[in-house]
Amino acid sequence: MSRTIGIVSGSLRKNSYSGNLANYIKDNAPAGFEVKILEIGDLPLYNQDYDGEEVKAYTDFRNEVKALDAVLFITPEHNRSIPAALKNALDIGSRPYGHSVWSGKPGAVISQSPGAIGGFGANHHLRQVLAFLNVLTLAQPEAYIGSSYTLFDENGALSNEDTKKFLDGFMAAFVAWIDKTA
Ligand SMILES: Cc1cc2nc3c(=O)[nH]c(=O)nc-3n(C[C@H](O)[C@H](O)[C@H](O)COP(=O)(O)O)c2cc1C
Repeated sequence: MSRTIGIVSGSLRKNSYSGNLANYIKDNAPAGFEVKILEIGDLPLYNQDYDGEEVKAYTDFRNEVKALDAVLFITPEHNRSIPAALKNALDIGSRPYGHSVWSGKPGAVISQSPGAIGGFGANHHLRQVLAFLNVLTLAQPEAYIGSSYTLFDENGALSNEDTKKFLDGFMAAFVAWIDKTA
């Protein structure tokens, strides 16, 4: 039976570089895995008042995450941190208190930026949140993808061979980590 890796992208932008990387990983899913890209752009802002209420968008998202075998975050950097939409999704999945859907999931982080340092700040802010949420986050290899605007063709397909090779190796390490933590 195939297992499912969910990708949460930190970008809501059409034609986003994070989304392009997610598409490459989805189209080149590791053997035995289905890769599914989760939608976070329509989630209402997290509000603790809703913890006792049924908010369909929250419930659907929490159920989607619950069903995953692992979760991969691919994110740009916004002002040296993670985009608000990504933090919102993390917060929604973490509540109501005691019912976090993140806890115990194997996870991995890829950050990308048009700049040279590949979203290092976002990557590590995200790792801090994931540590608290008890996501079992892959430590190595780290993935800071810089100069991201140079990596894709005019249709948004990943065209840089070194980055393809790097991502293939990264996903192999992630699969080994998923097996190890199972
Ligand atoms: C509000 C905002 C803040 C940004 N802050 C940073 C930053 O701190 N560091 C960085 O390298 N790039 C920063 N950028 C540039 C983004 O990394 C760049 O737009 C990136 O390609 C977005 O990823 P996407 O293509 O997946 O949407 C920022 C962009 C926006 C819109």
